[in-house]
Amino acid sequence: MRERIIAGNWKMNSSLFEGVKLARSVVETVRGIEGVTVVICPPATHLVTIGKLIDGTGVGLGAQNVHWEEKGAFTGELSAGMLEDTRCRWVIIGHSERRAMFAETDQTVNLRLLKTVDSQLRPMVCIGETLDDRKAERTFEVIETQLRTGLKGVPLKGRGGLVIAYEPVWAIGTGQTATPEQAQEAHRFIRDVLMDMYNAADAGETVIQYGGSMNEENVAELMACDDVDGGLIGGASLKVDKFAAIVKAAAM
Ligand code: 13P
Repeated sequence: MRERIIAGNWKMNSSLFEGVKLARSVVETVRGIEGVTVVICPPATHLVTIGKLIDGTGVGLGAQNVHWEEKGAFTGELSAGMLEDTRCRWVIIGHSERRAMFAETDQTVNLRLLKTVDSQLRPMVCIGETLDDRKAERTFEVIETQLRTGLKGVPLKGRGGLVIAYEPVWAIGTGQTATPEQAQEAHRFIRDVLMDMYNAADAGETVIQYGGSMNEENVAELMACDDVDGGLIGGASLKVDKFAAIVKAAAM
């Protein structure tokens, strides 16, 4: 049985006060739920405080990005070591919002990943096609390029193992979730590409999360798909009731 992982990507939301409250509520509401790994990824300014707060609770702490150098003249960036100091053990890499707005490419995703596999951070690598890609029937081509370039030279079974998040861009923040058939088709394809790049055993164990308007109502049917092993949740991770319901539904 593959591990299941539900992660909340808070993006640029919540004041520190609100974030602390939310983190506390998440810890309380998911306590005792077994069979699923739970991670929250607050804004970087919250990491130190929330890291202390949730330490030892079983809820993991993740960052939303990481730079590939250890230190130096990289204004505005954070290194893996700095994130580790805040007790972060997870990091989102290559989110489509960073690709679309902050010049993230498969090459920079690759640099970040190569650095991360040497650290204590477990990466959740985001891939997925835009609406134009899907309409032009380029979905699989896009996903395959993102995997082959982004993961070049990166071991699949690093510390804890790489996590892939399939996030179709057209489904993010739109309320237009992929159907279970669309999700399963893409996830199966991702696993097949990983099999070809690595080997069947490691690809078979790799956690592939779905992201894009996942919520408490559609989580069960998405998680029922053979190759959907978790979720990367945006909007619904900001409401503790919704997030806890997703975690419960995803538990094995
Ligand atoms: P939504 O759940 O708000 O669609 O966001 C998904 C996402 O981008 C998670 O990284």
